[in-house]
Amino acid sequence: MELRIAFLTRRAKGGVSTKEEAVSADLIRVGRGTENEVYLPDPRVHLHMAVLRSTPDGLFMEAIGTGPLRLNGNVVRNARVAVGDTIGVGPYDICVVDPPEDKDVAITVELTQPMGDDVKELKERSRTSLATAGMSKRAWAWLLFLVVAIGFIGLPIGTRFMHSDDNTGGPLSVAHKEQISFDIAWKSGEMMDAHKFFADDCAACHVKPFEMTTNQACAVCHADEPHHADPVKFPRADLVQARCADCHKDHQGPTPLKIENQTLCADCHRDLKSGSPSTTLENASDFGSDHPEFKPTVSTDPSKNVWTRISLADNPKEVSDLKFPHKTHLDPKRMRRPDGKSATLECASCHVEEPGGGLMVKIDMETHCSDCHRLTFDKLAPDRVVSHGKPKQVVLELREYYAARALEGGVPEKTAPAVVRRRPGTKLTEPQRKEALGWAKEKWDWAARYIFSASQCGSCHMLIKDGPIEDWTVKPVRVTARWQPLSFFSHDSHHEMNCVDCHEASTSVSSADVLLPKIDSCRDCHSGGNSTSMVPSTCIMCHEFHTPGQPPMVKLKETAQK
Ligand code: HEC
Ligand code: HEC
Ligand code: HEC
Ligand code: HEC
Ligand code: HEC
Ligand code: HEC
Ligand code: HEC
Ligand code: HEC
Ligand code: HEC
Ligand code: HEC
Repeated sequence: MELRIAFLTRRAKGGVSTKEEAVSADLIRVGRGTENEVYLPDPRVHLHMAVLRSTPDGLFMEAIGTGPLRLNGNVVRNARVAVGDTIGVGPYDICVVDPPEDKDVAITVELTQPMGDDVKELKERSRTSLATAGMSKRAWAWLLFLVVAIGFIGLPIGTRFMHSDDNTGGPLSVAHKEQISFDIAWKSGEMMDAHKFFADDCAACHVKPFEMTTNQACAVCHADEPHHADPVKFPRADLVQARCADCHKDHQGPTPLKIENQTLCADCHRDLKSGSPSTTLENASDFGSDHPEFKPTVSTDPSKNVWTRISLADNPKEVSDLKFPHKTHLDPKRMRRPDGKSATLECASCHVEEPGGGLMVKIDMETHCSDCHRLTFDKLAPDRVVSHGKPKQVVLELREYYAARALEGGVPEKTAPAVVRRRPGTKLTEPQRKEALGWAKEKWDWAARYIFSASQCGSCHMLIKDGPIEDWTVKPVRVTARWQPLSFFSHDSHHEMNCVDCHEASTSVSSADVLLPKIDSCRDCHSGGNSTSMVPSTCIMCHEFHTPGQPPMVKLKETAQK
C-alpha cells in the first residue's frame, strides 16, 4: 500500500504547518517506537498501539496491546475505516483523508492534546497558598524562624554550655553518654564506619564548641599514631604541628576518603631540602614524571650487619653470603635430582607468595634445596644425612654416628679394623673399645672435612675455618625479605605478569645480583596521580604516611594537662 502521511502542527498565532511523508508498506504500524511507520513521539503513547492494514475489502485498523483506540470518539479494538473517519491514538487524532492520485491511502496526524496543557491544568487544580492555611506569610516566616532558631541553635548551644564542665573530650565519660545531645542536629554528614560507635558523641572530637577539632581529642584514642618523619631531625612546623583534621576529614561517609591527593605530599617533597636541609632523600612530586630511581636496601657487609641504600641505576651488588646461581637452576639441561633424573624448576618451586599475597615466603634450605642437595657424608651410607643447621650440631651428629657404628660392630668396610667389622652384639674389652673409637674419630674427622667442603656446606655457604673443626662456623646468611622498606609492594596486584617481566632471574649467575625491577618498568603501567591513560598512582599507593618506628604524633600527657 502506498501511504501519504501529513503531520500537522498548529502554530500559536493560528495557521497550520504540514510535514509530509510517503511510506510504502503492507502494514502501517502506529506507536511511540521509532520503527513505527506512523511515529508518535509522546510519552503517553505506547511503543506499539495499532496497525492499519489495506485489504481488498478496504482499510482496517486493529489495536495492539492494551492501549485504547478511538474511532470517531468511540473506543474500539478492530474496525473498518474510511475517508472522513478520525482515529484517536492517545493525544493524537489521525484522520483518513482523500488520497492523491499516486497513493492508496492518505492520513493526517495531529497532536490535539499537547502535554503542556495537561500539566498546566494539573498545576492549576493543585495550587494551594500559605494564606489558605489560616496565617499570613509573615506570621509563618516568624514561626518557622523560631523553630529553627530554638531547635537547631538554641537547644544545642544551651545543652552544650550546661554540661560544659564535663567537657574533657573524654569519649567514654559517662556524663556525655547520658545527656541528650541536641548538637546532633549539626551533624554535617555520615561518620566513617570506624567512628560510628561514638558518632553521636560530638564532643569526643569537637572538644570546644565553635572550634576546630584538636589533635589531642583524636589522641585520646589514637595516641600511637607515629610521626611521619623524625621530629627531632626535621623540626619543621608544618610536619610537627600538622592537624590530624587537615588530612583526615570526617562526616564524609562510611569509608574514610583515602588521602589520595598527591599535592599534599608533593608540596614538601617537590623541594624537600628547602624545608629540611639535612635530608638525604631525593625529591619526588609525581610518580610518572618526577620520582627518583628506587634504592633498595642491600646487605653490603653481613658480618657487621651493614645495610646500604643503593640506587638501581648504580647496579648494586648484594653480599648475602649465600651462593646461589639462578641461571643454573632454571636451565633444564643442567638440573638433575640425586638419582640422576632430570628436573625442571620454576620460580614457584622455590618462591611462593605469603598468605595475603604481598611478598614471598622466605627461602628455606630444608624445603627448597635439600631434595637435591642432600647433606650426605658417607658413600657407604647414602641415606644418612646430617641435619641442616649449626656446624657444632653437625659435628656432634657425625661423632655420635661413627661412635655408635664402631661400638656396635658389623661395619662392612674392608679397610676398617677387625674390631669394628666384628659380628654385632659381641662385648668389647677396654683396649678394643679404644681402638674402635679411634677409628670412629678418624672417620668423623674425615666426614666433617667432607661435609664442610665445597661439595656440601661450602657449595652454598661461606665458611670460617678457624681452629679445630668443631669450631668452624658458617657466615650468617642474609636472604633479604624487604628490599624497599620505604615503600610497600604487593605481588598480588601483578599476577597477570610473568615473574621474569620484573626479575631477570634466568640469566643471573650469582646471588650478588639484585634482581629488582627499575622504575621505568613500573612506568609501563603506573603514572602520576593525575594520569587518565595509565594506572593513576598517588604517593600513598606505595608509601605510608605514619612511618613505623617514629615517635607518636601527639603526646597524650598534653591532653591530661588540658
Ligand atoms: C571522630 C571525630 C568526630 C566526631 C565524633 C564528630 N565530628 Fe564533626 N568533624 C570532625 C572533623 C575531623 C571535622 C573537620 C573539621 C576540622 O578541621 O576540624 C568535622 C567537622 C564538622 C563540622 C563542620 C563542617 C564539615 O563537615 O567540615 C560540623 C558542623 C560538625 N563536624 C558537626 C558534628 C556534629 C554535630 C557531631 C556529633 C553528632 C560531630 N561533628 C561529631 C570530627 C568529628
Ligand atoms: C573514641 C575514640 C576515637 C576518637 C576520639 C577518634 N578515633 Fe579515629 N578511630 C577509632 C577507632 C576505634 C578506629 C578503628 C581502629 C583503627 O583503625 O585504628 C579509628 C579509625 C580511624 C581512622 C582509620 C579509619 C580506617 O578505616 O582506616 C582514621 C583516619 C581516624 N580514626 C582518624 C581520627 C581523627 C582524625 C580523629 C580526631 C578528629 C579521631 N580519629 C578520633 C577511635 C577514635
Ligand atoms: C599530612 C597528612 C596527615 C596528617 C597530618 C595525619 N595523617 Fe593520618 N594518615 C595520612 C595518610 C596519607 C594515611 C594513609 C592513607 C590512608 O589510609 O588514607 C593516614 C592514615 C591514618 C590512619 C589509618 C592507619 C591505618 O593503619 O590504616 C589513622 C588511624 C590516622 N592516619 C590517624 C591520624 C591521626 C590521629 C592524626 C593526628 C595526630 C593524623 N592521622 C595526622 C595522612 C595524615
Ligand atoms: C610537611 C612536609 C612533608 C609532607 C606534607 C610530607 N612529607 Fe614525606 N617527608 C618529609 C620529611 C621532612 C621527611 C624526612 C626526610 C629524611 O628522612 O631525610 C620525609 C620522608 C618521607 C619518606 C621517606 C620515609 C622514611 O622512612 O625515611 C617518604 C616515603 C615520604 N616522606 C613520603 C611522603 C608521602 C607519601 C606524603 C604524603 C602523604 C608525605 N611524605 C608528606 C616531609 C613531608
Ligand atoms: C631453586 C630455587 C629457586 C628458584 C627455582 C628460583 N629462585 Fe629466586 N631465589 C632463590 C634463592 C635461594 C634466593 C636468595 C639468594 C639470592 O639472593 O639470590 C632467591 C632470590 C630471588 C630474588 C630476590 C632478589 C635478589 O636479587 O636476590 C628474586 C627477585 C628471585 N629470586 C626471583 C626469582 C624468579 C623470578 C625465579 C623464576 C624465574 C626464581 N627466582 C627461581 C631460589 C630460587
Ligand atoms: C632439582 C634439584 C635442585 C634443587 C631443588 C636445588 N638445586 Fe642447587 N644444584 C642442583 C644441581 C644439579 C646443581 C649442579 C648444576 C651444574 O653444575 O650443572 C646445583 C648447583 C648449585 C649450586 C652451585 C654449586 C657449585 O659448586 O657450583 C649452588 C650454590 C646451589 N645449587 C644452591 C642451591 C640452593 C641454595 C637451593 C635451594 C634454594 C638449590 N640449590 C636447589 C640441583 C638442585
Ligand atoms: C644447597 C645449599 C645449602 C647447603 C648445602 C647448606 N646450606 Fe645452610 N643454608 C642454606 C640456605 C638457603 C639458608 C638460609 C635459609 C634457611 O635458614 O634455611 C641456610 C642457612 C644456614 C644457617 C643459618 C644462617 C643464618 O645466619 O641464619 C646455618 C647455620 C647453615 N645454613 C649451616 C649449614 C651447614 C652447617 C651446612 C652443611 C652441613 C649447610 N648449611 C649446608 C643453604 C644451604
Ligand atoms: C608505584 C609506586 C610508587 C609511587 C606511586 C610513589 N613512589 Fe615513592 N618510592 C617508591 C619506591 C619503590 C621507592 C624506593 C623505596 C626504598 O628505597 O625503600 C620510593 C622512594 C621514595 C622516596 C625516597 C627517595 C630517595 O631518595 O630514595 C621518596 C621521598 C618518595 N618515594 C616519595 C614519593 C612521593 C612524594 C610520591 C608521590 C608524588 C611517591 N613517592 C610515589 C614507589 C612509589
Ligand atoms: C611488577 C613487577 C613484579 C612482578 C611481576 C613480580 N615481582 Fe617479585 N618483586 C617485585 C618488587 C618491586 C619486589 C621488591 C619488594 C620489596 O621487597 O620491597 C619484589 C620482590 C621479590 C622477591 C624478594 C623479596 C621476597 O618477597 O622474598 C622475590 C623472591 C620475588 N619478588 C619473586 C617473584 C616471583 C617468583 C614472581 C612471579 C610469581 C614475581 N616476583 C613477580 C616486583 C615484581
Ligand atoms: C603491567 C602493568 C603493571 C606494571 C608493569 C606494574 N604494575 Fe603495579 N599495579 C598494576 C595494576 C593494574 C594495579 C592495581 C591497581 C588498582 O588496584 O587500582 C597495580 C597495583 C600496584 C600497587 C598497589 C598494590 C596494592 O595491592 O594495593 C603497587 C604498590 C604497585 N602496583 C607497585 C608497582 C611497582 C613498584 C611496579 C614496578 C616494579 C609496578 N607496580 C609495575 C599494574 C602494573
